[in-house]
Amino acid sequence: MFEFELIKECKDTKARVGLLKTPHGDIETPIFMPVGTQATVKTLSPCELKSINSQIILSNTYHLYLRPGHKLVKEAGGLHKFMNWDRPILTDSGGFQVFSLGDLRTITEEGVEFRSHLDGSKHFLSPEKVMEIENDLGADIIMAFDECAPYPCTHEYAKNSLERTTRWAKRCKDSHQRNDQALFGIIQGGTFKDLRIQSANELIPMDFPGYAIGGLSVGEPNELMYEVLDYLTPIMPKHKPRYLMGVGAPDNIVEGIMRGVDMFDCVLPTRIARNGTAMTRTGKLVVRNAKYKADFTPIDEECTCYACKNFTRAYIRHLIKTDEILGLRLISIHNLHFLLELARESRNAILEDRFIEFRKEFYKKYKI
Ligand code: GUN
Ligand code: ZN
Repeated sequence: MFEFELIKECKDTKARVGLLKTPHGDIETPIFMPVGTQATVKTLSPCELKSINSQIILSNTYHLYLRPGHKLVKEAGGLHKFMNWDRPILTDSGGFQVFSLGDLRTITEEGVEFRSHLDGSKHFLSPEKVMEIENDLGADIIMAFDECAPYPCTHEYAKNSLERTTRWAKRCKDSHQRNDQALFGIIQGGTFKDLRIQSANELIPMDFPGYAIGGLSVGEPNELMYEVLDYLTPIMPKHKPRYLMGVGAPDNIVEGIMRGVDMFDCVLPTRIARNGTAMTRTGKLVVRNAKYKADFTPIDEECTCYACKNFTRAYIRHLIKTDEILGLRLISIHNLHFLLELARESRNAILEDRFIEFRKEFYKKYKI
């Protein structure tokens, strides 16, 4: 039901092309996964997501557990039926969200006690509880309950948190019930080389069908993120998918692909769309800026998305300025299309033995 086929490796770099088979269809890697935290990719319908070739979307255990509740989603027939998305879904475990709650949570060996960010009510998430929730939601790929250490943090803190993440991964594996869902392990260890290697060495013998790299893109400089990937991906299993969590800036995606990462997700494209910013091959374009007031060209002349084929910067700027929902929708469509195309173009470049040139061309135009 779940299989990862390694189709091609780049001859010059660690980049690779694969095919990930799931019960709801195949995913061509490298891939970007749009984020649908509340069982919806903000402002877009499933039909629109398909029109930009989204192959898989991500949703969040923490949010769906609090609202509408995993039992309700189960009653609806699972997350796919509930939101009418028939392609693959990945659910994150809540490890990241719960730890981001700061004062509102207490971590123990058993799990995490926290107060809801919605109404202050008390809750407890353990590895076993998270597996129950993710089993009820029914995504194709589910993530283990982990602890994401902040940046910066001490070696001692990162060590304790990665060792707890290993013990929790074991408990997740022991209580995971459904064989039509692939449970991925998450490598932690902050930005410490010895700890990242320790985490990988503890999780790899547990034989998860895929591995994520967590705890990155949490405020560390890009160079540090790339350094972690440089030593980590070579020791990760070659024939299993590798997922870099929470990473979605265009340059970070290209660098991740070059270092052997297969999957990415990030709220960035839909979040910045909502404040009127577009992602383009030359960098960020703040559509709401006054200089686009009478600019009757599309966001990106070369882009083939619905927004660029049909609307001007001036019109989209007007929609944003007047708080019209269509403005957010059009920029979200464009931004997601841009990242999905970036992954697809990278894939084609690897297949055609020209990934190095592709990356060079990317940086010629792209301003960070
Ligand atoms: N999303 C981004 N980073 C992380 C992480 O370290 N753990 C989890 N569970 N989700 C993430
Ligand atoms: Zn576009």
